[in-house]
Amino acid sequence: MDQIRIRGGRPLSGEIAISGAKNAALPLMAAALLTERRLVLSNVPQLADIHTMASLLGQHGLAVEKLAEGGRVLSLGGAVTSTEAPYDIVRKMRASVLVLGPLLARTGQARVSLPGGCAIGTRPVDMHLKGLEQMGAEIQLEAGYINARVRGRLRGASILLPVPSVGATENLLMAACLADGQTAIANAAREPEIGDLAACLRAMGARIEGVGSERLVVEGVSRLGGAEHAIIPDRIETGTYACAAAITGGTVRLRGGRLGHLGALARTLAEAGVEITEEGDALLVRRLNGLHGADVMTEPYPGFPTDMQAQFMALMAVAEGAAMVTETIFENRFMHVPELNRMGARINVHGASAIVRGVRSLSGAPVMATDLRASVSLVLAALAARGETVVSRVYHLDRGYERVEEKLAGCGAEIARSHD
Ligand code: EPZ
Repeated sequence: MDQIRIRGGRPLSGEIAISGAKNAALPLMAAALLTERRLVLSNVPQLADIHTMASLLGQHGLAVEKLAEGGRVLSLGGAVTSTEAPYDIVRKMRASVLVLGPLLARTGQARVSLPGGCAIGTRPVDMHLKGLEQMGAEIQLEAGYINARVRGRLRGASILLPVPSVGATENLLMAACLADGQTAIANAAREPEIGDLAACLRAMGARIEGVGSERLVVEGVSRLGGAEHAIIPDRIETGTYACAAAITGGTVRLRGGRLGHLGALARTLAEAGVEITEEGDALLVRRLNGLHGADVMTEPYPGFPTDMQAQFMALMAVAEGAAMVTETIFENRFMHVPELNRMGARINVHGASAIVRGVRSLSGAPVMATDLRASVSLVLAALAARGETVVSRVYHLDRGYERVEEKLAGCGAEIARSHD
């Protein structure tokens, strides 16, 4: 298994190219199931999760071709020959459940393994299922699988999501595009990745209104065509490297980063003493003087993203004063806390909140984490720590950060990957 070794204490300086957004790419790839024509996606990030989605689509019968740059441009298309998403693939990546809506809408049936819980929480998919049932699907849970079928086409429906779930919004939006009549999704999630999915679906011929608002209205069409679509830059990768610049007291240009996609994160970083300015197609990030403690609470977009909570906590670990970090989206997303504390941080968890008391410096240590964002928060802490940190279980990082060690080394970090 790979490890990443980091010797901390160097301010980062230079430019980092932001990759396409993983969480936009995954639903966009699933959208290829909605048409027999070709969907060509560019700016596809080179990540383990993308390969998992490509093999799942391949198993459904789609041809997945790499058109350029080792897979940065992907062509997807063809007949659906299997409507089963097997446990062996779904257990590797929960986002596999995004094939459910498209398969059902296109073929009238789907058999998808239930994703089960994961390291950050129980993460049920009840809202996905209930919404599809409202659209006329018959759904049974049996032997760990979701068995779904519909006689004829799905029907338009008026759906109210109890909370703005990103995945449920995406699954229902895709299904609604091929349903008979109008579907309204109220309390829909508003993440930029949903806007990107809607833009691509529209290019394929879907009729969607209300994009960017909490109410999406879709007029179903009988078929969708092909399209070419460039995936938006990854706002979480952008935020992560902004924290890397800030925690090391450096200055970094994030090429492709979009300020308009950062939501409350930009405001919170400013409050903590980190300046972000737009410079052409890039964001320039630098720490002004000292870092100050700033309280945050995770919320659906445009609130502070749960996917930035661990990285922001690493930053707060070395800020002046205290910060209260409250996690409202997932019930078990503080696994980075004990590892950060092993590096000298002073963090106490009380229920859904963590009190972070800033310390002068952290010290390197062997660490590991159980999920993607927790792992990268340890990389950030290591960049600021005295001495060497060895981060193991690097496969978590590879699920969501493309060439993390190359990008950081390009800005002067002392970082290298090695085999255990
Ligand atoms: C997406 O997960 C992201 N994944 C997650 O990214 C992200 O943390 C999350 O949204 C929140 O922003 C992808 O886009 C592939 P949700 P998703 O449905 O869609 C509850 C990362 O590190 N819920 O918005 O699974 C759920 O348990 C990650 O890249 C139900 O109760 O998240 C959670 O508490 C991990 N029933 C809340 O809603 C449901 O049917 C929000 O989850 C669906 C969700």
